[in-house]
Amino acid sequence: MFVILPSDAPSGLVDAVCAKAAARGWQPETSRGDEQTIVALAGHGDRLGLEQDLSGEAQAELVPLLTGREYWKQRLIRRVVGWLAAGLGLLTAVALLMPALGFLVPPSRSTPGADTSRAALVRELPEGSARIVRFRGRPALVVHHGEGRYFALSAICTHMEDCQLEWDAERAQIVCPCHGCVFDLYGNVCHGPASVPLERIGTERSAARVYLREGAP
Ligand code: FES
Repeated sequence: MFVILPSDAPSGLVDAVCAKAAARGWQPETSRGDEQTIVALAGHGDRLGLEQDLSGEAQAELVPLLTGREYWKQRLIRRVVGWLAAGLGLLTAVALLMPALGFLVPPSRSTPGADTSRAALVRELPEGSARIVRFRGRPALVVHHGEGRYFALSAICTHMEDCQLEWDAERAQIVCPCHGCVFDLYGNVCHGPASVPLERIGTERSAARVYLREGAP
């Protein structure tokens, strides 16, 4: 065991510690250093008794000499406590940052609203392609124009309200097989005889799917 005292501990104090240790059956040996004064205690004296004797002496710290096993056990405990403290600090930081992140990051639109209908899987609509789907009981044309831009329009020609339109990928236009009407991706009439534009339908996209929703985009 050791008794550690300040480097400038008065000789009277050091002598008193040595005397108390000797009275408890220890053989004290003093060495003074720049940072502390150490009283090494050899032998097998009364440890608890010496602890009581020194309990009122604030400048004297009794340090037990640890066996190898005790040393590793205390080291492991210190590390586990350190990890727990670090983990707790990290969790606290995350908990504090979450509201701020939620305020700064706009809400994701990956979850479509209740007023949407699933139209197609993204992988089913490669760039420049289109497909006919049912929306509100009527055919609708969904076009992937590229760079993640999707257009959806009514697929019923406005000329006779009877013919189903088709996608012309080469011209990137919508054509009617009945009398040759042509519409652009915004539903505008490019070529008659129709004069009424196509109804546009809103689109939403999640990571894997394209959805249609009521109302213009
Ligand atoms: S029905 Fe489409 S052009 Fe006449």
